[in-house]
Amino acid sequence: MTRKCLAVVLAAGDSTRMKSSMSKVLHPVGGWPMIAHVVASIAGSGISDVALVLGRDAERVAAAAKIGAVEVESFLQTERLGTGHAVLMARDAIARGYDEILIAYGDVPLITAGPLKAARDALSSGADVAVIGFHTERPTGYGRLLVENGELVAIREEKDATEAERAITWCNSGLMAIDGRMALDLLERIGNSNAKGEYYLTDVVEIARSLGGKAVAVDAPESELTGCNNRAELAIVERLWQERRRHELMVSGVSMIAPETVFLSHDTVIGQDALIEPNVVFGPGVSIEGGAVIHAFSHLEGCHVSAGATVGPFARLRPGANLGEGSKVGNFCEVKKAEIGRGAKVNHLTYIGDAVVGADTNIGAGTITCNYDGVNKHETRIGAGAFIGSNSSLVAPVSIGDGALVASGSVITQDVPADALAFGRARQDMKPGRAAVIRERNLAIKAAKKAKT
Ligand code: UD1
Ligand code: CA
Repeated sequence: MTRKCLAVVLAAGDSTRMKSSMSKVLHPVGGWPMIAHVVASIAGSGISDVALVLGRDAERVAAAAKIGAVEVESFLQTERLGTGHAVLMARDAIARGYDEILIAYGDVPLITAGPLKAARDALSSGADVAVIGFHTERPTGYGRLLVENGELVAIREEKDATEAERAITWCNSGLMAIDGRMALDLLERIGNSNAKGEYYLTDVVEIARSLGGKAVAVDAPESELTGCNNRAELAIVERLWQERRRHELMVSGVSMIAPETVFLSHDTVIGQDALIEPNVVFGPGVSIEGGAVIHAFSHLEGCHVSAGATVGPFARLRPGANLGEGSKVGNFCEVKKAEIGRGAKVNHLTYIGDAVVGADTNIGAGTITCNYDGVNKHETRIGAGAFIGSNSSLVAPVSIGDGALVASGSVITQDVPADALAFGRARQDMKPGRAAVIRERNLAIKAAKKAKT
């Protein structure tokens, strides 16, 4: 029989230590708000009921937590009286009657399904409270787990700990599972006589024991349980997330030469046998098909790269760039909202925006689609098998037919039919011997100046 579980996610804190104009749970990790990571992991562990406790930036946090996969019910904590008080804001949900209550913190975003399951399993095996702990070399700021004879006897907050207790390196992640029938009774008994004058959720351990209940701690990796109170910890959490995601991709068949220099987003998709060279940044919304090569120092967001295509070095793909199979976007090129056809080449120093480029077309170095008139954006359509000479300006709206040729240096303002040759530049004029005459005159001026001084 599956046991019914409610997850209560705390996200009402003031985020004082973050020193930010927004709640810390809105700060992104892998380009996604921390709170979304937490809700996604809970959903991924098979829990379908989530109660979210909100305070600062309540509306924005509630919106960020709506990731589609689960039903999220919101509760407001109007006063910040501590984590124990915060959980009780979801009293109505807890009182509906669950076998298990799982508590998670919005500022512990790297959690995966594994430790959540371990805590719930501990309840099934007879514990009334199961706290997820982790061992760390940097315990400062965390509550310490006090264990005797294999049972958890208390969680001591740093501010209330003795020197000996502070030396303990087994820490409270903040995540715990509580027996659903006991939860409300335990939570309501929490008081606030401690160094911070707050209602500490962590007191449920001692309260459960005083009522004859059993508390245990389950161990989980630090890399999943690192919390985030300030910007330095945010950077650590980001690093841990990046390391995990890169590892997953490499294990799934993606090559990275210097993985520590590749930055991913929460939704980056990369296919098997793709090669990612050093110093590549993936913003949100990128998918790369198998066998594509992303050369060094490229920046991609909101784009799709098809099988066998190559990008960079030093390329920028912006939202709406869609590269066809085997196409090439080379160095110092920018592509935005544009289809680059199968086998087409955009190799050097080019801007292609609001455009369609047909299959096997070659765009010469320095070509610019002039898509913006200062007010509106306009489209450039280039057919298949066309050739755009270097340093051309294509003034949109404009279309260039299949197989057409645009002479180098052209400014194209009129449509070019298929297979036509278009010149859009002044004719070359020639004055034989004139360069030598100018040179002699300039040398004479220079000599006269020198004689004066
Ligand atoms: C808490 C734990 C500590 C643990 C650490 C793990 C307590 C008393 N301490 O400390 O043992 O090692 O997390 O990261 O629980 N929140 C509310 N309302 C409140 C207070 C907090 O919603 O009134 C939320 C915060 O938004 C945050 C979470 O609860 O998501 C934890 O609060 P925080 O103040 O960061 O607790 P820590 O001091 O980190
Ligand atoms: Ca915290």
